[in-house]
Amino acid sequence: GGGGSDTASSGGGGNDQITLGFAQVGAESGWRTANTKSIQDSAKDAGINLKFSDAQQKQENQIKAIRSYIQQKVDVIAFSPVVESGWDTVLKEAKDAGIPVVLTDRSVDSQDTSLYVTFLGSDFIAEGKKAGEWTVKNFANASGEVKIAQLEGTTGSAPAIDRAEGFADVIKSDPKLKIVASQTGDFTRAGGKQVTEALLKSNPDITMIYAHNDDMALGAIEAIEAAGKVPGKDITIVSVDAVHDGMQALSDGKINFIVECSPLLGPQLMDVVKKVKAGESVEKRIVTEETTFTPEQAKEALPSRQY
Ligand code: AHR
Repeated sequence: GGGGSDTASSGGGGNDQITLGFAQVGAESGWRTANTKSIQDSAKDAGINLKFSDAQQKQENQIKAIRSYIQQKVDVIAFSPVVESGWDTVLKEAKDAGIPVVLTDRSVDSQDTSLYVTFLGSDFIAEGKKAGEWTVKNFANASGEVKIAQLEGTTGSAPAIDRAEGFADVIKSDPKLKIVASQTGDFTRAGGKQVTEALLKSNPDITMIYAHNDDMALGAIEAIEAAGKVPGKDITIVSVDAVHDGMQALSDGKINFIVECSPLLGPQLMDVVKKVKAGESVEKRIVTEETTFTPEQAKEALPSRQY
């Protein structure tokens, strides 16, 4: 039973070449595109034979892909779980087959942590907190209620859950900061646009939009401009990722602040895969290093960004 299209890179070709099966979430955002490229490029550089599948944001497709990697007896399976729950059965199948699993980017909520070797990725709660801290500072002297609309990522996904939690945790210190609407835009530009169009009708006096990724913020910008308002001025916008188009909008003043989430996980993933294959131990949690950007910092950083 296949799990989407497989593209294998040739690599070194020797008998001891490592085969890695990677079950990607989809191609929902600029972040995801950069993440996929990072994984494919670094597999090639590391001489690892990569079997890659795109689940189109559907858990059932990811499960199918993982099962097909088990059948093909790959050396290591890595994946970025689209949602947090519902993985125990398939992870148990991999474990029983003796195939180590590496989680990248997003985590699972499984109680049994022996089901995976390590989780390599961002601290999404910290990202939400950074967005919250900027918000608290930015509106410290505002008079009256600050009405915040939240554009949530994919429902049930670790980044959507954690970015909401981290943000809420920090902004509760200032009672005038109120989340008046919160809806999913599924991490896509179209989703962000659609939700914002409806939002501008139900809450025309919104002060700020907190988007769980740049793509949804970019969709929101389109909706705000179509409604005759000025993004970044009439409505403050904060988002997460710092992909190229987001950074461009930030330097143009249409987004006010971006919390970085790095998609360049490929090189670290290949290191982990090699270590696991060699029987070496790896840290149970590997956290990506990230920063934040103001418009001025975005202008400076843009020319040297890789994505
Ligand atoms: O899991 C990481 C998130 O997934 C990114 O922030 C978002 O852009 C992507 O779709």
